[in-house]
Amino acid sequence: MTNKTKTATLTFDGKTLELPMHSPSVGPDVIDIRKLYGQGDVFTYDPGFTSTAACDSSITYIDGNQGILLHRGYPIDQLTEKSHYLEVCYLLLYGELPTAESLEDFEMRVTNHTMLHEQMMNFFRGFRRDAHPMAIMTGVVGAMSAFYHDSTDINDPHQREVASIRMVAKMPTIAAMAFKYAQGQPFVYPRNDLDYASNFLRMCFSVPAEEYEVDPILARAMDRIFTLHADHEQNASTSTVRLAGSSGANPFACIAAGIACLWGPAHGGANQACLEMLGEIGSVDRIPEFIARAKDKNDPFRLMGFGHRVYKNFDPRATVLKESADEVLELLGIENNPKLQVAKALEKAALEDPYFKDKKLFPNVDFYSGIILEAMGFPTSMFTPIFALSRTVGWIAQWKEMLDDPQLKIGRPRQLYQGETFRDYVNVEDR
Ligand code: CMC
Repeated sequence: MTNKTKTATLTFDGKTLELPMHSPSVGPDVIDIRKLYGQGDVFTYDPGFTSTAACDSSITYIDGNQGILLHRGYPIDQLTEKSHYLEVCYLLLYGELPTAESLEDFEMRVTNHTMLHEQMMNFFRGFRRDAHPMAIMTGVVGAMSAFYHDSTDINDPHQREVASIRMVAKMPTIAAMAFKYAQGQPFVYPRNDLDYASNFLRMCFSVPAEEYEVDPILARAMDRIFTLHADHEQNASTSTVRLAGSSGANPFACIAAGIACLWGPAHGGANQACLEMLGEIGSVDRIPEFIARAKDKNDPFRLMGFGHRVYKNFDPRATVLKESADEVLELLGIENNPKLQVAKALEKAALEDPYFKDKKLFPNVDFYSGIILEAMGFPTSMFTPIFALSRTVGWIAQWKEMLDDPQLKIGRPRQLYQGETFRDYVNVEDR
């Protein structure tokens, strides 16, 4: 909302501009620079968008200094403690907690869409067996726009709704099929009598040859991982989804773009990179060597699973998952797994090290989610697909919010051009 009492004055090159300011419901004020280029013939420069608000949003709020994460105003620790993933999906998509009746209706709508078009199986079979499941997910989700033509018209609110439900419902099926394909095992179809997390675990770990019982503690931990990753404000993949959507691209294409962005090791790929790093460290006695490398300016190595662009004291999602990690490890009786022992010792060593303390580098959500997923029996390559399936609802909520925004414009950043200025073409024989 525009703050009539506050403006920012910018003086440069003998010009003075008064820039309006807006106040959020909570958090820092923003200076509105939309007319800056038109009135001042200058751009702002902010690679990495560290000081730039790119949109209005009412979905998620983060206070990185205090370690606060709110969805529609509700703190993440209350949601993980008292709610569950599908209810949080409803909250993110529609803005309020559902009544018992609307939750039942929502769960039924999601459940009705868990199966994939049978012909889509051919897509999976076209990939090499050793394809990374994120590569498969990016391809298969993008391909959904070739199968579900009745939900690609972004100007039709009904089609937008159907596409949203389809993606929340089908993403676990797609991720589990990508997993099964790599294992050389038959695809397991969804079971609609199971809750969202149990259904996913069953699709991943059951085989036709024997019965599979989902352990409720593992299902609870899985649901927590989904809930904790459901949305996270304007991070790289969400901004990618918004940027792709700003051109009017169909929802499946936009989410495929988000999945591709999430894959990177600085973002969703960090949980895989973290477990691989724990494997590389190998034993507790090698931790000092790796800590020294992480601190060495001339070595590109970083401690994966540590640090965050926004959280500068602690990651509230990590606090919740640390608890779950302890629970799962105890249940499975694998506290003595060497990677997990390295993880515990590394966490302690980094938290006590002045470099990590001074730079406020704490274990993030990916550190603990990797440990839990490893203990559950997922290979590291499945960690980021699980993040992607959890985050899909956040991407969709942000995409829908953007389309409803009357101020929507195609995203088009500018640049600080540092290249050659005008020069004449030289024929190849004269170069
Ligand atoms: N290990 C060692 N040093 C680090 C690390 C790390 N993990 N993270 C940051 N630093 C140092 C960095 O070298 C820099 O030092 P200096 O000021 O001396 O140049 C300082 O801390 C600030 O780093 P930055 O790169 O400016 O911070 P950023 O906000 O741009 O980066 C980050 C955030 C998450 C990309 C980074 O901390 C990182 O690469 N962490 C490891 C990857 C990781 O775990 N990513 C998952 C993030 S949580 C999941 C999600 O939300 O996507």
